[in-house]
Amino acid sequence: MSSSKISLVLTPHKGIRYAFPQLSIKAGNIDYTDKTAVEDLKAQLVEFGDLLEEHAHIENEFILKPLEARAPGSAEHDEEDHERLYAQQEELIAKLNRILDPAISPEEAQRTGYEFYQELSELHAAHLEHMLEEERVTQTLMWQHFTQEEMLGIHGQIIRNIPPDKMLAWMKYILPALNAAERREMLGGMQAGAPAPFFQQVMVVAENVLPFSDFEKLEDALAQAA
Ligand SMILES: [Fe+2]
Repeated sequence: MSSSKISLVLTPHKGIRYAFPQLSIKAGNIDYTDKTAVEDLKAQLVEFGDLLEEHAHIENEFILKPLEARAPGSAEHDEEDHERLYAQQEELIAKLNRILDPAISPEEAQRTGYEFYQELSELHAAHLEHMLEEERVTQTLMWQHFTQEEMLGIHGQIIRNIPPDKMLAWMKYILPALNAAERREMLGGMQAGAPAPFFQQVMVVAENVLPFSDFEKLEDALAQAA
């Protein structure tokens, strides 16, 4: 594959691959009898789960639908995965709600917490497999059936359909997951095309999530590009 070919999925997938291990670590080291810690884990899972749901919706709408129109039968596998992954995610949230039930005993909370930890690993593994399939199979089919210009058009549609609050939430996971060149390119595009107040909010997220030296390099590169 040529590096100039646009990938419609790699950037969010890097964010997803960055977010899951953090959830997994937290799910492994918290005390499930501590309701505040469980609430905190649930808030993280719900926020990230919303992003996963929105990501699947965007792929269904803007990638799989046009692909299915040109290569009938090729979208079914990914669409089924999306439904299955969403159901697994909802099960996980339900499990945390059971742990948060004031009537649960400490022993039951710990036992259910361990089940949650294992099922989170299952969801993580399923997402890793799903993303590889999309990058190796679905993305390759897109390159076969769509021109680079059409792909750029789809990419633009995807960006325009992510609400600003969701985009800011994505940035927490995507910015530290990208390499410096990818980060510069993505934020350079936002600096040129997005409203200045929104771009400033993105830079605040960048400052919070990046190591200081990486943030400084990014600021310098963006100042040169402006
Ligand atoms: Fe997907």
